[in-house]
Amino acid sequence: MRFSLDLVRGAWDDWCLYTDIMEELEYRELQESDFEALKSLHGDFFPVKYSDMFFANACKGVGLRGGQLYNLVAVQPPRGMSTWEGEEEEEEEERIVGFLLAQVFDASTAEDADLFFPTLLSPKRVCYVLTLGFIPEYRRAGLASLFILKLRNDMELDPYCGAVYLHVITTNNAALHFYSHNDFLCLRSLQG
Ligand SMILES: CC(C)(COP(=O)(O)OP(=O)(O)OC[C@H]1O[C@@H](n2cnc3c(N)ncnc32)[C@H](O)[C@@H]1OP(=O)(O)O)[C@@H](O)C(=O)NCCC(=O)NCCS
Repeated sequence: MRFSLDLVRGAWDDWCLYTDIMEELEYRELQESDFEALKSLHGDFFPVKYSDMFFANACKGVGLRGGQLYNLVAVQPPRGMSTWEGEEEEEEEERIVGFLLAQVFDASTAEDADLFFPTLLSPKRVCYVLTLGFIPEYRRAGLASLFILKLRNDMELDPYCGAVYLHVITTNNAALHFYSHNDFLCLRSLQG
């Protein structure tokens, strides 16, 4: 399924800062051919090593414990190129420039689930952000914020999903600033 910015614009009405970069890109879910690109981007962005099975499953829309993966990628569409020999046009392949992987869990089995049980309003389900990243040349353009906003809007459609949460390593200042900018609260610090 491909999402053009126009298609999702309605869902993102509260987002008024569309940028040219956002208009240039296309948005879709993962597909099996994304395996190598997804693995390589995770290797570039994160200190944690994920298994090949994780990426193979992700590209089929399967998350942890066999659950359904919420996923969204931003791709740079193919661009025509002229070749040296002639003036023929060659199509460059599309390139993934960013992704968001998340998963909804039953709150009682989610990691750090006790965070969600301090009150009678404890949710039935919670959404965990597994990974989120954009290649350096596409950062600070609002794209990760746009993905988080779409995730939050989509989660609001589930009346039983009460939180979107994640873990971030405390040395990742960019991510800490990013999540704080997007109204996430730090509920717990874990000692390494
Ligand atoms: C963290 C990350 C996803 C942010 O993506 P992004 O598309 O650049 O984020 P946005 O453009 O939506 O940033 C929104 C706001 O977050 C804050 N922010 C983002 N990156 C920041 C940085 N490097 N330093 C300080 N603040 C930052 C800013 O307030 C920014 O608003 P501004 O640009 O108007 O100042 C990106 O840096 C990244 O891919 N990092 C590598 C992977 C990673 O660490 N992922 C997070 C852990 S899952």
